[in-house]
Order: sequence, then C-alpha cells, then structure tokens
Amino acid sequence: MRTTIDSYTARSGRLNLDGIEFDDFKDQPLTPEALRTLCYMHDIEHHTICYLRDLLLTPAHSDPTITSFLSCWAYEEMWHGEAIGQVLEAHGQQAGAARIAPLREKRRRKQAMSTFSTIGSAAFAGRAFIALHMTWGAINEWTTQAGYGRLSEVANHPTLRELLKRIMKQEGGHIDFYASEAGRRLGESPKAQKLTSFALRHLWRPVGSGVMPKVEVGFMVKYLFDGPRGNDVARRIDRRVDRLPGQRGLHLLESAVTKLSGHSFAASA
Ligand SMILES: [Fe+2]
Ligand SMILES: [Fe+2]
Repeated sequence: MRTTIDSYTARSGRLNLDGIEFDDFKDQPLTPEALRTLCYMHDIEHHTICYLRDLLLTPAHSDPTITSFLSCWAYEEMWHGEAIGQVLEAHGQQAGAARIAPLREKRRRKQAMSTFSTIGSAAFAGRAFIALHMTWGAINEWTTQAGYGRLSEVANHPTLRELLKRIMKQEGGHIDFYASEAGRRLGESPKAQKLTSFALRHLWRPVGSGVMPKVEVGFMVKYLFDGPRGNDVARRIDRRVDRLPGQRGLHLLESAVTKLSGHSFAASA
C-alpha cells in the first residue's frame, strides 16, 4: 500500500491552470444547463473540507496512511472548486466564499451529521468502517470523474474540456487510492463486506445528495446520466462496484438514476 500512497502524495498538488483562458467563456459562454451543473460541482468540491471533518471523527483518523491521503486529497479538491469558480465568475456568477458561506450556514443550522460519522462513531463498526469509507470514497470518485467526463461531452466547449481533463486526471489519483484500499480491506474481512454492502444498499446516494437541494441533485443526475450514453456510463460504475469483494449486484447508479430521472435504463448502446 505504501507504493500507492507514496506515488499519490509525490504527484499531488494544486491544479495546474497554465494556458486555461477563462476569458474564453465571455466570448463563448456555456449553456445555462452546463453552468448549473458546474455550480453543483463547485459547491461539492468546496464541501470536501466539511466531509473531511466528519471523516476524522471516525476510526479512519487513526490510520496514518489514510490521513496522509486525506490531507492531499482535500487540498486538491479545494483547487478543483477554485478553478470551477473561475468559470462561474467568467459568466458573471458568484463563486468561492460568496457561494459557499450561505451553504455552510444552512448546514450548520440543520446541525447535520453525515451518514459517515453517524455510522463511524458506532462502536460496532471499528476497522470494518474504514473499508466502508474507502469503498464509499471509490464510488464517489468514480461518479465524480464520470460526471466531469459527461459534462465535457455534453457541453462541448474546448476550454472547459481542457480544464475538466486536468481535473479528471487528479480524480484518477483519488480513485487509485480509494479503490485499491477498498479492494484490499474488503478482501480481508467478511464483516467489512457485509457492513459495506448493507450501508451502500440502504444509504448510498449520488455525491452531494446530503448537501445540495433535492431539485439540484435531480437536475444533475438527469443532465449527466439520463439517456443511452449517460446510462452506459452509470452502468460502467456499477460494474466496477460489482468487482469489489462482496459488493456484487447492488446496482447503485442504476437505481439512483432511475429514481431521479423517472426513466428506466435504456438498452445498452
Ligand atoms: Fe475534485
Ligand atoms: Fe476527487
């Protein structure tokens, strides 16, 4: 596992924006739908630090490999949010603190505790919870990277495509870590397999569901994952989940997309 964490931390860093001309969006703006999706992504990338706070209340904080990863991961995600914020600002929209502060205030008032910290603080979960966290993280990173890929296709804007390509590459580093940790930890523990499949089956929702308004989650899922091409991308993530020890047959993405879009999956393209 050291290889994965060492190679990740060695190449981790602030997103490189050299050559990205944000003023291009002033001449060639994105559609309102693409922009609305980017608002969602901006808010979720910036929410990573709150998610990290919840995670550190769980047994994950006692594993130094995981905390090394989380330190670099949260830093990279923040810069993803900042970069997307520059796209929003080029369209005359609010970004950064002006958008995030009201969202955090709403969360504070609801006194929301994440699903993770609720499960993770339960004494029964122990090390099995770390396997769940790694699996949950892998699925969210697969979904995030796929979402950026779909947005890049649908928006068909050269500057956005280049920016998202760079973000997706870093999401790939997050996937490598989460998925390899998930596979190893699940493989070592039938208890972790059972806890994880139970939690995923009953609690997993698309990234951002606990933070963003329902209507925005529904819009994002329909825009990116509805229709034959989006369905195929979602199916690919479900197949990856199937390959994790003890997680076959959950169909998480298919269930979520069907529920939120109101359409059954199209036949495979
Ligand atoms: Fe990100
Ligand atoms: Fe990520």
